[in-house]
Amino acid sequence: MSKVLISPSILSADFACLGDEIRAIDAAGADMIHIDVMDGHFVPNLTFGPPVIEMLRPHSKKPFDVHLMIAPVDPFIAAFAKAGADILTVHPEAGPHIHRTLQAIRAAGMRPGVALNPGTPASIVEPLLDNLDLILVMSVNPGFGGQSFIESQLRKVEELRHMIDQSGRDIILEIDGGLNPENAPRAVSAGVTAIVAGSAVFKGGPSAYGDNIRALRPSVQV
Ligand code: DX5
Ligand code: ZN
Repeated sequence: MSKVLISPSILSADFACLGDEIRAIDAAGADMIHIDVMDGHFVPNLTFGPPVIEMLRPHSKKPFDVHLMIAPVDPFIAAFAKAGADILTVHPEAGPHIHRTLQAIRAAGMRPGVALNPGTPASIVEPLLDNLDLILVMSVNPGFGGQSFIESQLRKVEELRHMIDQSGRDIILEIDGGLNPENAPRAVSAGVTAIVAGSAVFKGGPSAYGDNIRALRPSVQV
C-alpha cells in the first residue's frame, strides 16, 4: 500500500500565529496543508481568503490543499492560483457549471478537486473523472471543526474507490471531518489515500503534532 497522505486542517490552528503553526506541522510530518476557506454564505462560518494564503505560502513548500466552501467560485479562481494554492477543491453545489469550473482551475495551473457533502451521492463525480485530481468525501457537514464523524460516508468512500480504480486515473481520495486515530484506519481500509484532520492534529500544541500525525497513519506505516 502506498503512503496515506496526512493533510492537517489549519482551521484548528492558532489563528494569531498561522505562519508558526504551518512551519510546525510541516516539520512534524504533514504531507499537505489543508486550508478551509469559508464565506458565511455557502457554509455558516467565515475564515479567510487569498491574501492570507499568499502570506502563508513562504512558510512551507508542502502542497497547499485548499478546500473552498464559497459560492460563487469562478470569480476567485485566479486569485487562489496567484496566492499559491496547489490543489483547489470545490463543492458541486457552489455553482451551475461544475465541469467548467474544474476546467478553469486546471487552466489556472492548479489541480482540481471536488468535495461531496454527506448528502451528495458518489455518482455526481462519474462524468467529471477526467477533470479531477482529487475527490474529497466530507464526513461531517462542512462549516466547523470538531464535529463527529458520520459513519455512513465510508460506504461512499468504497463506491468512489471502485470508480477511481475502474477509471485507471491517479486521483487522490481524501476524507475530511471528525477523523481521529480510531476511525482513520477504517477510512483507509475503505479506500482513502489522504486524511484531513484538524482537532486531532492540533490538540496539545506544537510539541504534540508529530505524535498526533503519526497516530493517524495506519500502523504498518508508522
Ligand atoms: C469542515 C472542514 C474540515 C475541518 C476538519 O468544514 O472542511 O477540514 O476543519 O476538522 P476536524 O478534523 O476537527 O473535524
Ligand atoms: Zn476541509
